[in-house]
Amino acid sequence: LHDYTAVNEPIRDYLPGSTDRERLEKRLSYFSNTCSDVPIVIGDDVYTTSDVRHQVMPFDHQKKLAKFSYADKALIQKAIDVAVKAQRDWERQSYEKRADVFLRAAKLMQEEYRMDLMATTMLGQAKTIIQAEIDSTCELIDFLNFNVMFGHEATKYQPISLGSITNTLSYRGMEGFWASVTPFNFTAIGGNLSSAPAIAGNTVLWKPSDTAVLSNYTVFKIFREAGLPPGVINFVPADGPVFGGAVTSSPHLAGVNFTGSVETFETLWKSISTNLPNFRSFPRMIGECGGKNYHLVHPSADLDSVVNGTIMSAFEFGGQKCSACSRLFLPQSCAQEVIDRLVAIQEEIKVGSPLLVENYLSAVIDDKAFTRIKGYIDHARSSESCEILAGGGYDDSKGYFIQPTIILCKDPNDKLLTEEIFGPVLSIYVYDEKEVADLLTRIDSNTRYGLTGSIYAKDSEVVDSWKDFLRFSAGNMYINDKSTGSVVGQQPFGGARKSGTNDKAGGPHYLLKFMSPLAIKTNS
Ligand code: ALA
Repeated sequence: LHDYTAVNEPIRDYLPGSTDRERLEKRLSYFSNTCSDVPIVIGDDVYTTSDVRHQVMPFDHQKKLAKFSYADKALIQKAIDVAVKAQRDWERQSYEKRADVFLRAAKLMQEEYRMDLMATTMLGQAKTIIQAEIDSTCELIDFLNFNVMFGHEATKYQPISLGSITNTLSYRGMEGFWASVTPFNFTAIGGNLSSAPAIAGNTVLWKPSDTAVLSNYTVFKIFREAGLPPGVINFVPADGPVFGGAVTSSPHLAGVNFTGSVETFETLWKSISTNLPNFRSFPRMIGECGGKNYHLVHPSADLDSVVNGTIMSAFEFGGQKCSACSRLFLPQSCAQEVIDRLVAIQEEIKVGSPLLVENYLSAVIDDKAFTRIKGYIDHARSSESCEILAGGGYDDSKGYFIQPTIILCKDPNDKLLTEEIFGPVLSIYVYDEKEVADLLTRIDSNTRYGLTGSIYAKDSEVVDSWKDFLRFSAGNMYINDKSTGSVVGQQPFGGARKSGTNDKAGGPHYLLKFMSPLAIKTNS
């Protein structure tokens, strides 16, 4: 095996007049004037059913971007059969051969299909140019290159051999199939959750989110063009409960690679638990389930980075990142200054089509998200202990638009400070510096999540003691930096507690999660 080297894909700027920008505009024009057909793909065969759905553009919801259909139970079963059958041959290929497919895919994404990934993500998931560039090209390319490198490094570890005894570990894939259930908010997560098990020697049923189906299908097609054999990854848009029910009742389920809500992940666990005696092996569960992430500010903090970091973390991509800052804790000594500065920036922020560069954020993903987020804003409006300091507007007549909203909460147990909102809503609590111990306890225990958290302080003793106290409040902690923007290979990503199983996507051990090592002792 040769060694692999991965470096992070450079972020491009798409300046007006540049070749990249011209190429992007062409693909945006093509996809926005076409309702693309997205099939179900099982093995080498494509299917449609009578259960037809459309993906619309969230910022202009009358515009249909893609037409697709839900696989029914029989088709999901067919996909399981095909994946199980394909697994043996695929698993017997060398790591190098499997890796080559995904390294080739990463190359195709760098140039040839970069603009397709960008355009389908911008139009379908309402991401601006920079958001789509960070997600659908750079992070996705990084996942492929780093997983291949880290997977290879991790499988170098071998047990000791003594005298006439040789001991080896061979890192096999797992028998059966993996179900990858992927979210709308990062095209890269869809690509990672489907490809990582495959690199490790597994076969996969990929159920994309309805609201990211076109970008995800674009990724899938690139995998196939790069040489992925039929049946290794099967593209299966489907109703969530129907898909979940079918895969968790199959005796061949090897594992679930999931990003989505706590409730859906728990439903999958429950369903698996009722079928336990039927499984050929214990299914592995890998889950990433959201957060209620905090920025905690000390009086010694650099306020420029607090203000800029909070705006970016809370409002970029409409707060629809599991890592987004949604609770900001400010000491009385600097609260007013920080609030004034946040409100002044909020007033300048433009919301609208992701195709216009002046817009910082666009619409939220769909009517369900719009209704949920609006509910939290309405709660703030009607509650005596909340004050809307900026924003608070919403309008879904053309797209699902919600203004970035800043709310002051006087009740530390208000649901705005404890529940995940997944939208552009920032809740602020001002604390009394004499009550820091209580504050830390509440930050730590007032939510079920433990994904990301930021401590802003120049005083290093404070940093050390807060970091220690809050050690289980996050899987990814940031000191003097915002709570979003983990980079593959640099900040392995995943949450503690109900935020997920903390398997650290983009990290050095991620690929091992999809392997079932075989130990062999040979006596010569
Ligand atoms: N990994 C993404 C971030 O850190 C979700 O923002």
